[in-house]
Amino acid sequence: MGVLAEIEKNDPEVYGYIKEELLRQQEGLEMIPSENFTSMAVMQASGSILTNKYSEGYPGRRYYGGNEYIDKVESLAIERAKSLFGVPHANVQAYSGSPANLAVYLATCENNDPIMGLYLYDGGHLTHGWKLSITSRFFKSVPYHVKPDGYIDIDEARKLANENKPKLIWIGATAYPRQLPFKEFAAIADEVGAYLAADIAHVAGLVLAGAHESPVKYAHIVTTTTHKTLRGPRGGLIMVTQKGLDKDPDLAQKIDKAIIPGFQGGPHNHQTAAIAVALKEAAKPEFREYGHQIVRNAKALAEGLMANGVKLVSNGTDNHLLLADLTTFGPGAGVFGQDVLEAAGVTANKNTIPGEPSSPFYPSGVRMGTPALTTRGMKEPEMKAIGGIIAEAFNEIKPYSLPKDKDERTEYLKRFREEIRQNKKLAELRTKVRQMCKQFPLYPEMVL
Ligand SMILES: Cc1ncc(COP(=O)(O)O)c(C=O)c1O
Repeated sequence: MGVLAEIEKNDPEVYGYIKEELLRQQEGLEMIPSENFTSMAVMQASGSILTNKYSEGYPGRRYYGGNEYIDKVESLAIERAKSLFGVPHANVQAYSGSPANLAVYLATCENNDPIMGLYLYDGGHLTHGWKLSITSRFFKSVPYHVKPDGYIDIDEARKLANENKPKLIWIGATAYPRQLPFKEFAAIADEVGAYLAADIAHVAGLVLAGAHESPVKYAHIVTTTTHKTLRGPRGGLIMVTQKGLDKDPDLAQKIDKAIIPGFQGGPHNHQTAAIAVALKEAAKPEFREYGHQIVRNAKALAEGLMANGVKLVSNGTDNHLLLADLTTFGPGAGVFGQDVLEAAGVTANKNTIPGEPSSPFYPSGVRMGTPALTTRGMKEPEMKAIGGIIAEAFNEIKPYSLPKDKDERTEYLKRFREEIRQNKKLAELRTKVRQMCKQFPLYPEMVL
């Protein structure tokens, strides 16, 4: 019997879409750096009967009865997170990365307090104070930036911190290809008495593998998603470090209270169980090797791309992601970049670049990463080949340039998309990609 037999019987529409999505994942190169392929064990925990239970509160302190086993599951996840990251306190209930970050604000700031984070165009996350996010509506956001070379401008951050005396400083990013400067930001935060929160959503798996420096020594609070390089289910972790407890002995309770009753209700116990399973996997020696291979692959991909004339922000990478700068094709060319890659069977995403000459919806870069391809077993030779495929696909952007007039853009993009559907070169690349994917089967054991 297939794992979706009941859905197939009861809801053929949903069944059909899941089946098509599985095929899309199997036959394409998944290169969105925040995505990954979880194990069957993680998916089974996530699809388990634990979804049925309400358990507002924390282990041993619930507002509902019947939580004997839920307490055990949550305690296991907490202990595994504490032991793996080396922290004295972990909260595993945040529904995802964004709520985890909101809990940090609630625990450390009052309304209108100044806060600092990396500017979104330069790779920062929405929740680090972007102007359209709730985090800049309720707090005074003072963004810092990257320098023209693509590296975080530590001097600017220090100057802004001294001028604005933030309550909370974020170090972390969603599109930053280099090591995060935890030590330097700890010095800045300590200088102005701010909390330092390291958001390692993207690099958590690399941190556990020892392929990226850990922020635990430097930050007061560490947040992460569990579904990116960590390769777990969708979810979030909030951890308080010893340094955090030394600054404020009540910080752990403040974080827990921020989650509930602060702004969440019942925890998603099926996700908590899946996080526990993922953390057990991350403790294995194979995961260490996996994390290092992600970085080796990203470096090989960077070489492959640059050898084929693709410009990269900061000229390379230290981690799992790369940011192609497509401004040579005109401002906003990231939109074309994402689409030509998709036509070639490569899934990546349009992204702003430092000094973005266009806008977040029509940005000039494309963000790519290696975590999911590495899970499939691909290594450096495949990365070099993929670098060539991507560069060839980008060449197909040449005839196009984004109209300045916003109203003209929709029609223009419609025509562009029709044309690339007919593009022979992209169809050829699509065939190559399919062949490569066949050599690295994804979920071969999965019978729908
Ligand atoms: C650095 C960073 N923090 C937080 C988040 C938010 O995570 P989620 O999408 O799970 O809310 C992301 C997601 O991309 C991220 O990159």
